[in-house]
Amino acid sequence: MIKYTIWIVDDDDSIREGISMALEEKYEIHGFFSAEDSLEAENTNDPDLILLDIGLPGMSGTTALKEFQKIYPNVLIIMITAYEDIRTVITSMKAGVYDYVIKPIYMEGLEVTIAHALETIRLRKEIHHLQEKYLQNNMPCFIGESNSIYETMDLIEMVSQSSDTPVMILGETGTGKELVASAIHYKSPNFKGPFVTINCAAIPKDLIESELFGYEHGAFSGAHSSGKKGLVEAADGGTLFLDEVGDLSMEVQVKLLRFLEDGHFYKLGGTKKYIAVPRIVSATNRDIDKMISQDEFRKDLFYRLGVVIIRVSSLNERQDDILPLASFFLEKYNRKFNKSLLGFSDEVEELLLKYSWSGNVRELKNLMERGVLAAKGHELAVKDLGLATIQPGKVMNPQKNSMGLPLLMPAGMDLPEFHTAVDQFYFYESLKMTQGNEKKAAQLLNLNHHTFRYRKKRLPQ
Ligand SMILES: Nc1ncnc2c1ncn2[C@@H]1O[C@H](COP(=O)(O)OP(=O)(O)OP(=O)(O)O)[C@@H](O)[C@H]1O
Ligand SMILES: [Mg+2]
Repeated sequence: MIKYTIWIVDDDDSIREGISMALEEKYEIHGFFSAEDSLEAENTNDPDLILLDIGLPGMSGTTALKEFQKIYPNVLIIMITAYEDIRTVITSMKAGVYDYVIKPIYMEGLEVTIAHALETIRLRKEIHHLQEKYLQNNMPCFIGESNSIYETMDLIEMVSQSSDTPVMILGETGTGKELVASAIHYKSPNFKGPFVTINCAAIPKDLIESELFGYEHGAFSGAHSSGKKGLVEAADGGTLFLDEVGDLSMEVQVKLLRFLEDGHFYKLGGTKKYIAVPRIVSATNRDIDKMISQDEFRKDLFYRLGVVIIRVSSLNERQDDILPLASFFLEKYNRKFNKSLLGFSDEVEELLLKYSWSGNVRELKNLMERGVLAAKGHELAVKDLGLATIQPGKVMNPQKNSMGLPLLMPAGMDLPEFHTAVDQFYFYESLKMTQGNEKKAAQLLNLNHHTFRYRKKRLPQ
């Protein structure tokens, strides 16, 4: 069991000795005649709790209080006071003192106050420990050794110091934009708040406003009778990640801009004003400058969203990241599939470095998953990757099924993650099997129609 350390700072010997005698079995107790003595103390543990007399010789109790709070930010302080000092007690309570006891000290009462204080300390420590654990589990793992990825990491560190600066992340599909967004959230002061993601391209245009801002009771037919909270409100105090922000309609862009101006918003069908203050992180793989010049994206909104812009380079532009990423994914899938591959053959390394990564890190990750799953030897071989038939530096030809993917069966399949080459193959197959009927093709891939259309739009034509 933890033995808490308690300091008693009081010039009255009988008080110090009385408290020490009563408590020394349970706690580690150190007594000091003056504040100066305690501030110069050596060879004692840092205090969890300080019992501090207000009327001390030399430095007063109230000055000592500020010193202790500076040196030991987590310490709890209980003031010891005479009746006439009650004004000072009130000021001290406002300055963050945990509680006070009045002289002459009633020992049983003091013990209860101490027990409460130590329970508060224990709970605080437990919360701190849980937060650390939560962070460890959620903090994204960023792999890379290129200058470009180091610059990205530096920018993440910089923006994470603030809790509300809007950040826009630009980059091709699969480069790691969502990973950057979550790193910003978990490193920033609002990490305890929610991280809420909305994919602006996957939600039908008519629904996006109510998704973002919610709706009031009876806003439209079919609306839930009690109304609905929007994601802006759900992300209050945390981070709202607007993924594929380039796909927002002009109408919703205006509403978003209005919200960003002062944090106020109205729910659909309502006149009541709400306020929410999430940090807004947005991302798009579209050419935002071109969209602005073609009046498809509002310039004023772009300036609001992109107070800091992070451009994540394509994987082909950061060759130094390819092998570290490949090793990281190899380990990940070794663990997942209970394999013990030691590394790659030289040919695989060469191929990975020469390969044209149109799907960027996501494509590399998926390729590694498939490779580790298929591998039979001690190291990953070219044949495991299903890339043997393609020329390095060329994009795969989906119609030839050069990845060696299983055929799409009439019963359909799950296509959970976007991966350019794999998607391209199955989208083509599903459309072929359904004579071009998108709805049926989407069903075959277990995707809803909107997600299907969104992902299809992002495939190279
Ligand atoms: N530097 C990195 N280190 C480790 N994993 C990475 C890195 N970059 C990307 N990934 C992984 O690659 C996959 C794709 O990344 P992510 O979803 O963040 O890309 P994206 O840019 O948001 O893509 P899209 O534009 O298609 O939404 C994820 O599984 C992510 O964890
Ligand atoms: Mg993304």
